[in-house]
Amino acid sequence: MASKRFEDRDIPKTKISMGAIKRAFRLFNYISTTNKWLFLLGTLFLAITAGASILFPKLLGNMMDGVFVYKQGSVSTAPSMDKITQVANWFIYLFIIQAVFSFLRIALYVKVTENMTFSLRTSLFKSVISQNMEFHSKNRVGDLLSRFSSDISQIQDTFTTNIAMFIRQILVMIGGVFLIFKTSPQLAVYMLATVPVIIVVALIFGKFIRKISREVQDLTAQNNIIVEESITGIINVKAYTNELFEHTRYIKNAFTLQKESVIRGYWRGAFSSFIIVCLFGSIVFLIFKGLGLVQAGELGIGELFNFMLLTAFVGGSIGGMAEQFVQIQKTLGAVERVLDIIEMPIESNKSNNVPNFNQPIVFENIEFSYPSRPDNLVLKDISLTLEPGKTIALVGPSGSGKSTIASLIYQFYKPTSGNIKLGNSNINDISLIDYRKNFAYVPQEVVLFGGSIYENILYGNPDATKEEVINAATKANAINFINDFPEKFETLVGDRGMKLSGGQKQRIAIARAIIRNPKILILDEATSALDSESEFEVQKALAELMKNRTSIVIAHRLSTIRYADSILVIRSGKIIENGNHHELMTIENGIYKNMIERQIDPSDYFSEN
Ligand SMILES: Nc1ncnc2c1ncn2[C@@H]1O[C@H](COP(=O)(O)OP(=O)(O)OP(=O)(O)O)[C@@H](O)[C@H]1O
Ligand SMILES: [Mg+2]
Repeated sequence: MASKRFEDRDIPKTKISMGAIKRAFRLFNYISTTNKWLFLLGTLFLAITAGASILFPKLLGNMMDGVFVYKQGSVSTAPSMDKITQVANWFIYLFIIQAVFSFLRIALYVKVTENMTFSLRTSLFKSVISQNMEFHSKNRVGDLLSRFSSDISQIQDTFTTNIAMFIRQILVMIGGVFLIFKTSPQLAVYMLATVPVIIVVALIFGKFIRKISREVQDLTAQNNIIVEESITGIINVKAYTNELFEHTRYIKNAFTLQKESVIRGYWRGAFSSFIIVCLFGSIVFLIFKGLGLVQAGELGIGELFNFMLLTAFVGGSIGGMAEQFVQIQKTLGAVERVLDIIEMPIESNKSNNVPNFNQPIVFENIEFSYPSRPDNLVLKDISLTLEPGKTIALVGPSGSGKSTIASLIYQFYKPTSGNIKLGNSNINDISLIDYRKNFAYVPQEVVLFGGSIYENILYGNPDATKEEVINAATKANAINFINDFPEKFETLVGDRGMKLSGGQKQRIAIARAIIRNPKILILDEATSALDSESEFEVQKALAELMKNRTSIVIAHRLSTIRYADSILVIRSGKIIENGNHHELMTIENGIYKNMIERQIDPSDYFSEN
């Protein structure tokens, strides 16, 4: 099935409750004070236009009275052209008022809403990118995106349109009922006893029909899936001579579809008969009663006309309110989803302590499980010391926890137990931003941003000069391939860097790390096999990057490991061998020794064993 587009706005409805409404009122915090006043002014204009629209039936009635005068009571005027002209003039004023105030109302509401949407969007974005990795591993990208698109649009629509419609409908309803009673209390009682009841029944009926229609749509979709599956898999259908099977499957579904569609047809017919009989019936009934009153001289013909039009207005408002309710429920849901994230505390610690990286980073008995899988202990009792300026290599089978160790050093996650220290201070007591500023990370799978090569390198240090970018690209061994592109540094790398090869992307990432000039480097070597020439290029670039820096290298190549100051062999979240090359080579039957003797790169060695 085709995936749903965000614009489809499948926003779950939220029950209208005091709590939800109170929360929705918090949206006003995202509107500046001036704009709050403008919103109020817009609402005043809305009331004016609503009032003006109720005057419309009244004026039409007066116009009619200019022609017909049947009322035999105290006041009765003769039919007159003057009166008609006078009312026509009133109409012109009314329309001008309507036009001007409608424009102003919409303009004000849109201005205020856009002001609010701007703050909502920017606060939401800020909150999302400032959340910790735990948040990001729990929330799916699509879900977060939909909060920016459908939820915000829903709130936007509600503020520009739905609230206005809702207020207007309430005003028209109250004003209309008041005027109806004023025109003819007797007829008003008849009207209130019939029209609203019929409208409510019609709404419930309509909802039921929509439900059946949805079922029919689902069946149609299923039907199409069968067609799609059997045509795309036609080789299988033929190879297993399952034509008959598929045909029977299709017939069965198509038959249900036919049956359900016919039933839906009956209900639709019934609905339309219901509308004809009840709604039109009630109108005829009201006119009948009304004309009786006219006959008896208790009501003017214009007043009856006025009454009937007001009835239509009131009926329309009652009918329209149901849709507004649905929209408001959806909006309450959208508000909740947006504010939930905006109001979430962001990743930070209160500390302003500046880190001193001339001291070692120490893991003390670290245990860790990912928040999304608390039962799965990924790291077990890891202790290690990363001396300044030295290189540690982590080797071990896939899934043993190497990248996880790197994430903990970076403070993407907090350990479940144990301490990570920089010198004597716990890293929790150091300003997170200042801490991370000193790191550069070349991840296992390099993902670039969609812009140019230049922008991607600059990302490591947005303040760098052009010379520095070129210099970094040169050190990263990337300059040759960059200059081979016709657009050189301005070459666009495509979505996530798709237009570059794996080795090229890595060298861009290395250049990005070089330009950052970090104190600590974390390098998650890619397992993906580069051809030996690119591997050599990447290798040279890495050697340049690691010069005189504290580095943690998750190594998949013997050449990287060999010169590390210490090598940790990790298996199932535990350090099982620890030492430099010479020390590890003395371990009898040691994994490292075995690997070196057989000249097998770690990634291949562990997949073999
Ligand atoms: N975000 C995550 N949420 C939950 N579990 C995770 C997450 N990332 C990794 N894991 C699990 O943690 C364990 C260690 O993963 P890690 O990525 O550290 O392995 P690795 O040693 O880097 O492997 P590789 O060599 O394949 O990169 C694995 O069992 C993995 O399934
Ligand atoms: Mg990894």
